[in-house]
Amino acid sequence: MMEKQWWKREIAYQIYPKSFKDSNHDGIGDIRGIIEKLDYLEDLGVTLLWLCPIYKSPMDDNGYDISDYYDINPEFGTMKDLDELIEKAKAKGIKIIMDLVINHSSDEHAWFKEALKDSNSPYHNYYIFKPSVNGKEPNNWRSVFGGSVWQKVEGRDEYYFHSFSKKQPDLNWENPKLRQELYKMINWWLEKGIAGFRVDAINFIKKDQRYLDGPVDGQDGLSACFAYARNQPGIEVFFDELKRETFAEYDCMTVAEAVGVKYSDLGIFIGKQGCFSMMFDFNYCNFDISEDEEWFRRQNWTIKQFKELLFTSQREVQKLGWIASFLENHDQPRAINKFILDKKDHSYYSQTMLAGMFFNLRGTPFIYQGEEIGMENFERTSIDEFDDIGSHGQYQRALAEGFSKDEAMHFLNLRSRDNTRTPMQWDNSEYGGFSDQQPWIKMTGSQDTINVASQIHDPHSIYHFYKQMISIRKQEDTLIYGDFKELETNDEVIGYKRLYQGEEIICLCNFTNKIQDIPDIKGHILLDNYNNYQDKTLKPYQFVMIKSL
Ligand code: NOJ
Repeated sequence: MMEKQWWKREIAYQIYPKSFKDSNHDGIGDIRGIIEKLDYLEDLGVTLLWLCPIYKSPMDDNGYDISDYYDINPEFGTMKDLDELIEKAKAKGIKIIMDLVINHSSDEHAWFKEALKDSNSPYHNYYIFKPSVNGKEPNNWRSVFGGSVWQKVEGRDEYYFHSFSKKQPDLNWENPKLRQELYKMINWWLEKGIAGFRVDAINFIKKDQRYLDGPVDGQDGLSACFAYARNQPGIEVFFDELKRETFAEYDCMTVAEAVGVKYSDLGIFIGKQGCFSMMFDFNYCNFDISEDEEWFRRQNWTIKQFKELLFTSQREVQKLGWIASFLENHDQPRAINKFILDKKDHSYYSQTMLAGMFFNLRGTPFIYQGEEIGMENFERTSIDEFDDIGSHGQYQRALAEGFSKDEAMHFLNLRSRDNTRTPMQWDNSEYGGFSDQQPWIKMTGSQDTINVASQIHDPHSIYHFYKQMISIRKQEDTLIYGDFKELETNDEVIGYKRLYQGEEIICLCNFTNKIQDIPDIKGHILLDNYNNYQDKTLKPYQFVMIKSL
C-alpha cells in the first residue's frame, strides 16, 4: 500500500543563494533577493525550496564550511530576513528546507578553534586528530578536493582529518557529546518552522577506524578516501540515533545527499526504518566520468547504458522507498551539456525532452535554478576564471596525471561545478538582471538569448514547458503515487509507465535527432513538446506523455 506522505507531492526547487538574486548591489545573491523572486517561484508552481547553505561561513567551499550553525552569513542577510522569507513563502504555500552540513564544520568554527588551541579541551574530541606516523601523515588517503586528508597542526605532533578541503575539518561522530550538540542544533532549526533538510555528504560520517593505508591510485602517491571514509559499515547506528533524536520528532522531510551508495545498502537510507524521507541517487548521474569521480577520467556512454542505470535506480528504489529525482544541482554541469554533446542539437526540443524524462519519474522532482529556462555551461579558457575549490583540485590532479593545461581546462569546462553556479539569468542586461554590479562569478555569457524575461510570456518556451509539467503533476495522482514500469523501446528512446489504481501514464523520450519508431499507444496526450504527436513515431528529441484510455 503506497503511503501518501506530504513530501511525495512537493515540487522542489533548489536555490544557490549566492547566484540567485542580488538585492543590495554587492554582486552577491542574498535572502532578500529570494524574497523578491517569490512571485516568480509561485508562478512557476514550485512548492518547496531547498536553500544551499546560508549559515555563517568563511566561504572556502561556498558555505559548505560552516563557522556558526545558528547564524546567517552577513553577505546573505540576517536571521530576520530568513524569518521573513519563511513566512512570506509560507503565505504562498511554499515550504523551505535548509542544507544540513554535519559531516564537517569550518576550521573557523569556535569548536575547532578551541580544539587547535588546547589538545586537552573537550572540543579536541569533536574532531579527528591523529599523531604522525614516521614523521608523516597518519595514512595515504586523498581528500575529495585533492591532496592528503590530513593537515598538520602547527606546533604539535598531530594532524587533523578532512574529507573535503583543509578548511572543512570532519566532525568526530564517534564522540556522543558532539552528536548531541548537532541534534540540539537540528531541533532548533526544526522548531523554527522549516520543513526539513537536504543532508550534505551524510554517508561520510563513519570512517574505517583502522585508518590503514590504501593502494596508491594516482601520481600523487595517494589513495582515494572513498573506500574508507564513505558508506562504511556501522554508519546505520549513527543514522538510527540521528533519526530518533531529531527528524522522527517532527513531520519534516529529509533528503540525503549520498554518492556511491550500493543498492543493497538503500534500506538504511530510505527503507521503512531508514533515516531519511528520500535521497539523491548519483548512480545514474555520474555516467560520463569514472567511478572514482575524477573528472579527467572521462567515460564513454550510450543512451542504452544510461537508460539501464536510470531504470535500475527506479526499480531498486521502488522496492523499498522514495527518491528525489533531479537533472542538475550545484555540483553538476548543466544537463543539456552532459547529455547532448553536439551543441547544434541544443534546442527547445532537446531541453524539454530531458525535462520530461526526469520530471515524471517516480520520486519528488527537484528543479535547479536556471534549469527551467534551459541555462547552459560556459566555456572558460583560464584556471583563474574558476571559483570552485573542487575545480582547482581537479585541474591540479589532471596536470599531475600528465594531461596538458588545455586538456585539463577541457575537463573543467565539461564538469566544473561553477557551470551551474553562474548567476541566474533574469533578463538580457549586462549582468542578466541578477545584479547591477559585477557578480562574484563570471556570467555564462548567454544571458542575451537565455533569460527569464524572454520566456515568461512565450508559451513556446522551456519555462512554460516546466510550468505545464508542474501543473499536470498536481492534477495527476498517477504521476505522484504511481508505480514505475519500464517500456520496451528502441535503444535510443527512453520509455516508461506510471501505474496507479488502474490508470496508466506513459512517457516517451527520443534522445536522438532522428525519427524513432515507438509502440502503438492510444490515449489522451497530456503533454507533447511538438504539440502534434503522430501515432507510432517520435520526431527528433520529441517528448510525449500519454494517459492511456
Ligand atoms: C556536497 C555539496 O553538495 C558540495 O557542494 C560540497 O562541496 C560537499 N558536499 C562538501 O560539503
